[in-house]
Amino acid sequence: MGIKTGVLEPREPAIDLIRIISEGTYTTFAQSLKEFISNAYDADATEVDVTVDEDCNTIVVHDNGVGMTLKEFGDFFASIARSGKSGARTVFGRTNLGRPKIGRFGIGALAVAGVAERMTVKSTKKGSSEGFEAAISLENLRKHFLRGEDLSKHWRFFFNRWDGEPSSLHFSDIRIEGINDDIRALLQRPGQMKLDEFFPSTSKLSGLDELAWQLGIISPVAYAFTYPVEEKHLSRGKDALIMDKARRLLKDRIQIKFNGQPLRRPILLPRYQPNKLADRKEAEMLLKRGIGFEIRYLRSPKGAPVRYEGYVVVQATKLFPEELRGVLIRLRGVAIGWHRTFNISAGVLSTMLPNLSGEIWVEGLEEALQFDRESFREDHPKFRWLKESVIEKINEEEKGFRQRSVKRLSLTKSGSKRAAKKGMRPGDVSTQPTASPIPLPKADADFLPSAIFENVPDHITRILPQINGCWERQYYEACAVMIRRLIETMIIEVYWKRNWDNELKNPETRDFLGLKAIIGKFKADPRFSLDSKINKGLNDLKDIGDIAAHDFRIKVRKSDLEHVRDALRKTSERLIFLVRTISR
Ligand SMILES: Nc1ncnc2c1ncn2[C@@H]1O[C@H](COP(=O)(O)OP(=O)(O)OP(=O)(O)O)[C@@H](O)[C@H]1O
Ligand SMILES: [Mg+2]
Repeated sequence: MGIKTGVLEPREPAIDLIRIISEGTYTTFAQSLKEFISNAYDADATEVDVTVDEDCNTIVVHDNGVGMTLKEFGDFFASIARSGKSGARTVFGRTNLGRPKIGRFGIGALAVAGVAERMTVKSTKKGSSEGFEAAISLENLRKHFLRGEDLSKHWRFFFNRWDGEPSSLHFSDIRIEGINDDIRALLQRPGQMKLDEFFPSTSKLSGLDELAWQLGIISPVAYAFTYPVEEKHLSRGKDALIMDKARRLLKDRIQIKFNGQPLRRPILLPRYQPNKLADRKEAEMLLKRGIGFEIRYLRSPKGAPVRYEGYVVVQATKLFPEELRGVLIRLRGVAIGWHRTFNISAGVLSTMLPNLSGEIWVEGLEEALQFDRESFREDHPKFRWLKESVIEKINEEEKGFRQRSVKRLSLTKSGSKRAAKKGMRPGDVSTQPTASPIPLPKADADFLPSAIFENVPDHITRILPQINGCWERQYYEACAVMIRRLIETMIIEVYWKRNWDNELKNPETRDFLGLKAIIGKFKADPRFSLDSKINKGLNDLKDIGDIAAHDFRIKVRKSDLEHVRDALRKTSERLIFLVRTISR
């Protein structure tokens, strides 16, 4: 390869643009980095590697897209406000792979002008044997800019060009070196939480994890879990929009890696705080109060000035991480800003806002886009129309959501018979929840129905989720041991309520007797006159509990529990009746 060296001085720079961008128009580093990912997407790359070195001083974005010749680099990349993309200014420009082109202004490459000391571009174009590397000192540029000097002399790229690259080779490599100290400090921030655990806000993540999370949100990559809503809650017909959007991303076949890890769009709704779900009472509350969550679809009306479609998920309590709250606007698959950027707070009920997350795909709003690709011109008539239309639709949906929640609450309280009297048909119930996000078994899937235990003390009710949870997870021995404990606790409660609990204690030690003796006394107690079915039930339940607790030679099986299931329900009902009829 014969290497030629020279200096390339492209057209006079549009100084104002450099000024605007290098003063840090982008709200976050991720937004400036996304420009290179967008360029790789437009270059039909199928693999993009973003690598950050250990001290967060250098970032390289490598892609296997079509690449550039030195001339193209000079004419488009290095020339400000010139895009090399045919049809870039039209809405429907597509790449060879059929991707809708993102770039249109010809300024994306300037995104890092303000954040690093040096940028180097290396590329080889498909079908060409030429390779080149061109570099610019951004630090130098800024220095002269600050002195108020003419930048034409300093907007220059030193290059090396060579021949002999295999014509099949094609790639682009953007190296950004000498990242500013403030950004480096952000990137080097240690994390309090990890990406794969629950985090209330991305600010709890390490700086690099937060960057990966943010890039995942704004880049045209597939969803982390196939769809933005848990798949089990989706159905083909009703939720076609979400499924189509997710499929479209897969079709692009772009694999973006961040420090070797595949980048994914980290949206999975609904998202509750895990302790809310772990607490069964809370979980039941969630289910009752907010019907868990609802997915609603928004579509622009026919003939509207801007076409849009999207989804909004409203869930029963606050959504996490909080960065997902709001509605994210996407144009040609790329995010414009963040969820919080599209300000809907003026028109949407404030208590709903923290519970709401959505994405809206918009077509025909390119003309209202700001340079930074992070926001729209607020005064643009089309944008104003979009905003009003979306707020109006969300409002309609919200009203519906609240009404349905109230309706459901009354159904849960009064039972479906009374609801029917009010003119509700049973079908009303099933139209309500889009799905339940809570992994609660259905009422009849519970081993022991919780309804029996309403208004009984906590030391009894808290045994219940343990029994049902063990049953659900097929921990049959643990389930049997907890059944034994429930029986014991309920009998003692029956006696305690009547102030007779001393009768169940050893007179000398004041300790409670063993379960066998307790059951014996209870069965023989003339004050209760229990029937023979309950007596037998108590024996069977104690037996299975004893085996599970003490006899390792016998394994408690599902069928053993099924055998006593009915006895447990009846015995529990009888005992709880005895607990409730007396107040102490
Ligand atoms: N990774 C790349 N692979 C191939 N060509 C590239 C790459 N990055 C940039 N280019 C070329 O450089 C040009 C300028 O890129 P730049 O991001 O500045 O503008 P754009 O993508 O056309 O528009 P926008 O300002 O909206 O991003 C592109 O039009 C393209 O021709
Ligand atoms: Mg671009």
